[in-house]
Amino acid sequence: MRTAVRGREDLDYVIFVKRIAEKTGVDLGAYKRKQMERRLRSLASQCGASSLREFFHMLERDPSLLELLWKRMTINVSELFRNPDKFVELEKNILPRLAARAGRLRVWSAGCSYGAEAYSVAMLLEELSSPWQGPPILATDIDEEMLARAREGVFSEADMKNVSRARRRRFFVQGEGQYRGRPEVRRLVEFREHDLLQDDFEGRFHLVLCRNVVIYFTDEAKDRLYRKFFDSLTDGGVLFIGGTERIFGAEAIGFKPISAFFYEKPMPPGRRE
Ligand SMILES: C[S@@+](CC[C@H](N)C(=O)[O-])C[C@H]1O[C@@H](n2cnc3c(N)ncnc32)[C@H](O)[C@@H]1O
Repeated sequence: MRTAVRGREDLDYVIFVKRIAEKTGVDLGAYKRKQMERRLRSLASQCGASSLREFFHMLERDPSLLELLWKRMTINVSELFRNPDKFVELEKNILPRLAARAGRLRVWSAGCSYGAEAYSVAMLLEELSSPWQGPPILATDIDEEMLARAREGVFSEADMKNVSRARRRRFFVQGEGQYRGRPEVRRLVEFREHDLLQDDFEGRFHLVLCRNVVIYFTDEAKDRLYRKFFDSLTDGGVLFIGGTERIFGAEAIGFKPISAFFYEKPMPPGRRE
């Protein structure tokens, strides 16, 4: 009996994923099934649907439910200088080395949420050489609402907890319970919509940050993604991942781990730094 229920639920989920992909182009199948299914079923039941099949029909009738679905699928938690010690490593070791080698660094914050990560790097670049002359940091996310918020560059007191007094003064204007990035920081970031699982990647980046994004991706989706990041880095470029993440099989992709959260695409043999 339980097997029959499981079989029905399985089909219900598989068909839902397929229909969403046909309707929207978003591949929910690349996210870990257990977490994704739990989130989808709880949303479906909150909306009064007794199955994902019924939920799909509701989505077709009421497109605003799709917005709710995207919200449930993506978790947007962030803050400036998240894992501060890693940002110190970025500031003291990684960025100066990259800048000495390349000068005009191309940086990508992939899965940027409301922009805290991209603005953190923007501050470091501006401190490295003011005014920063390189191209704007590319910051992308699948969630348009977060991108709109990111463009405003407004952060709460909680977002700012790792930002020193000196940086608050230099890079932000303080309002009522919130801080807004000054124009000279905001001009350093360009926000764009992009799906890491579907869309093409640009190339020749010196630094790619993809942190706290892949937690819900399947192992295959992660592996594909890290290979694409490898290709999108320039020789000697660095990938910066999240505080609880690791790239299994990094060497097989070609990466050289620099430390726990930084992976380098090595220079080809014979080419000097
Ligand atoms: C927890 S936030 C991480 C924000 C920031 N990188 C940090 O570490 O603080 C995860 C972000 O990944 C985004 N995301 C999830 N799936 C994505 C996909 N397929 N393509 C692009 N962004 C995605 C979510 O919209 C969300 O804003």
